[in-house]
Amino acid sequence: MKWLNMFITAIFFFFLYASNGLAQNSCIICHKKSEDTDLKRPTMKLADDIHFKNGITCEKCHGGDANPAFQKDEEAAMDADKGFIGVPDKGDIPKLCSRCHSNAQYMKKFNPNLPVDQYQQYLTSQHGKRLLKGDDKVAVCSDCHGVHNIQPPNVITSKIFSVNIPKTCSKCHSDSVYMKDYGIPTDQYALYKKSVHGINLLEKDDRSSPSCTSCHGNHGAYPPGVTSVSNICGTCHVTQREMFLTSPHKEAFEEMDLPQCIACHGNHGISNVKREMLGVGENSFCINCHDEGSEGYLAAQKMGAEQDSLYKKIEQAKLLLMKAEKAGVEVSEGEFILKEAHNAFVKTQNSVHTFSYEKFHQVIVPGFKTAQNAVQQGRLALNEVQNRRRWLAIISILIFIVAISLYFKIKAMSKR
Ligand code: HEC
Ligand code: HEC
Ligand code: HEC
Ligand code: HEC
Ligand code: HEC
Ligand code: HEC
Ligand code: HEC
Ligand code: HEC
Ligand code: HEC
Repeated sequence: MKWLNMFITAIFFFFLYASNGLAQNSCIICHKKSEDTDLKRPTMKLADDIHFKNGITCEKCHGGDANPAFQKDEEAAMDADKGFIGVPDKGDIPKLCSRCHSNAQYMKKFNPNLPVDQYQQYLTSQHGKRLLKGDDKVAVCSDCHGVHNIQPPNVITSKIFSVNIPKTCSKCHSDSVYMKDYGIPTDQYALYKKSVHGINLLEKDDRSSPSCTSCHGNHGAYPPGVTSVSNICGTCHVTQREMFLTSPHKEAFEEMDLPQCIACHGNHGISNVKREMLGVGENSFCINCHDEGSEGYLAAQKMGAEQDSLYKKIEQAKLLLMKAEKAGVEVSEGEFILKEAHNAFVKTQNSVHTFSYEKFHQVIVPGFKTAQNAVQQGRLALNEVQNRRRWLAIISILIFIVAISLYFKIKAMSKR
């Protein structure tokens, strides 16, 4: 039985091997045997390679003759007359890949859902534009995808899996020596890693958080222009965008060429928001542009002050309820209201983006009512604590009196 099992397994692997073209491909047979790691490497991770899985072997990219008859004949297999091109120049790679990837009819046979516009898009990016001008330090297809072990974006080990993308880009963009001729910053990855987006994606594995390409595009990699920024941020932060677009800042920012969201939040180093960003304190965004006494300044001041007092109300309610709970009083009703008050607070942070005191005020008023209600609940709970204590005292005194009188009674009886 054991032998039969092994025999069947062997046959199975033989067919797997044969059907993948391994057995019949001169390039693979010879290169696999090579002792030169540069020659052997392309054959080492074939099992992961999306092209190999689809029957696309060496000669489809490099040309030459893969007939197994030439597995020992270098010259016949790698014959320029049979289209062998050797290692393509870096600048020629996008054309090489797009021979298939821009051919809709061809690609449809393999995967009808796969877009075929990567090359068109690429040509609109800073990478593509510079490549056409002869600068081959920019990213070409193989810099982002790899070459001989290309994997689709949803595979965890793929260079373009969302969590791996920042590393893929930073290979060049964080290398100040490599990038020195361009005069652009090389701190994007360092800032991103510590930003709310970077922490969420890289440390908390929250895939709804953006990687580099969520903001820059995959193939049309391009710094978002001034007017497109809120569109990009707004694909995820929908309500903030809607508010911004109807706020006084929209036109004012456009006129002054200010980049919408990132004028306040920044781009690569975006941090979690804090209350102090609103108002006229030291860490306020608003005072960067609004001088003391101006209309914007006064609005910021009022908004900041109201948000502060809502915050303080909520903290007060929290404290009261905590005390009551410690004393053993049921506070679930109060905690429910507290949670609502907290949600109301979050709503005010959101409605900052109307940049209108009146609209902000309309949102914060119901918040105050809820917070006041929570404080009330806290007070009631604490009253109950006091009531309980009072009753406890009365009952203790009563018990004491009964005990004393019992004592004297028993004493009198025993004397008799
Ligand atoms: C009999 C062995 C053998 C076969 C068959 C073979 N190669 Fe090679 N290949 C070599 C050796 C040895 C080198 C390095 C020497 C050289 O550049 O000629 C090489 C080099 C290469 C290079 C790098 C060329 C360069 O300029 O550095 C590529 C690409 C390549 N082979 C692809 C192929 C492809 C595609 C096939 C199949 C169509 C193939 N090889 C078939 C042995 C082989
Ligand atoms: C999807 C297209 C594609 C396929 C399929 C492909 N190659 Fe390549 N290969 C390339 C490109 C592009 C380069 C240049 C890589 C670079 O410059 O980074 C390359 C480079 C090479 C080199 C130079 C050394 C290196 O690793 O850069 C060798 C040798 C090679 N290929 C052999 C092979 C062999 C053998 C196969 C089949 C097992 C194969 N290639 C399959 C596109 C392909
Ligand atoms: C000979 C035609 C051909 C060439 C040349 C070619 N590809 Fe492909 N590629 C395909 C086919 C076919 C698929 C499989 C589509 C599928 O199953 O999704 C594919 C799949 C891919 C995928 C995965 C797409 C997905 O999400 O499933 C990537 C990424 C990719 N190729 C990149 C490249 C790059 C980069 C190059 C150039 C170095 C290249 N291809 C050259 C035909 C080709
Ligand atoms: C700057 C990096 C970069 C460059 C350069 C690049 N790609 Fe991509 N590519 C990506 C990323 C990131 C994705 C993943 C998209 C996703 O998550 O769905 C991708 C996805 C793909 C896909 C899967 C289908 C799709 O469009 O989403 C194919 C096919 C592909 N690229 C081919 C190419 C080809 C061909 C080239 C060269 C003309 C190229 N790529 C250049 C980063 C790049
Ligand atoms: C092979 C190296 C390399 C890789 C990998 C690479 N880039 Fe680039 N990138 C460059 C070079 C070089 C430039 C040209 C700089 C310039 O024109 O200022 C550039 C330009 C850019 C620009 C335009 C900058 C400007 O304002 O001029 C953006 C945006 C960009 N890359 C984003 C990305 C993203 C996102 C990734 C990863 C998906 C990536 N790059 C991967 C080398 C690379
Ligand atoms: C949340 C969106 C967002 C993310 C994520 C993001 N960027 Fe940017 N990036 C921008 C914006 C917006 C600009 C334009 C800055 C400007 O115009 O002032 C920019 C500018 C750039 C530039 C031009 C030079 C510069 O610093 O101004 C490069 C290069 C770049 N980003 C690369 C990257 C890389 C690499 C990553 C990932 C590590 C990344 N970006 C992640 C939004 C983003
Ligand atoms: C791909 C979706 C996506 C894009 C694009 C995006 N973000 Fe985010 N952003 C998130 C997620 C997810 C979080 C973390 C969830 C949270 O804490 O609310 C977040 C968090 C934030 C925070 C912190 C919120 C807080 O409660 O402290 C700010 C501020 C922010 N993003 C601003 C921006 C700006 C500005 C842009 C454009 C330059 C942008 N985001 C682009 C998804 C995105
Ligand atoms: C990047 C600069 C900038 C920042 C930061 C900024 N503003 Fe403005 N704001 C403007 C400009 C420009 C106008 C147009 C009117 C003007 O010039 O004062 C304006 C107008 C306003 C207006 C309408 C009143 C008027 O003068 O027409 C309000 C309200 C306002 N801002 C509130 C705020 C608040 C609140 C903050 C902080 C969260 C803030 N702004 C941060 C630039 C800015
Ligand atoms: C004029 C400055 C300014 C601009 C422009 C701005 N924000 Fe904000 N943003 C703030 C302030 C101030 C806060 C809240 C601080 C607080 O009160 O806690 C905030 C809070 C946030 C938050 C967290 C609270 C929430 O709403 O969930 C996100 C996310 C956010 N902003 C995204 C954006 C996006 C996206 C844009 C562009 C459409 C944008 N911001 C434009 C100043 C700004």
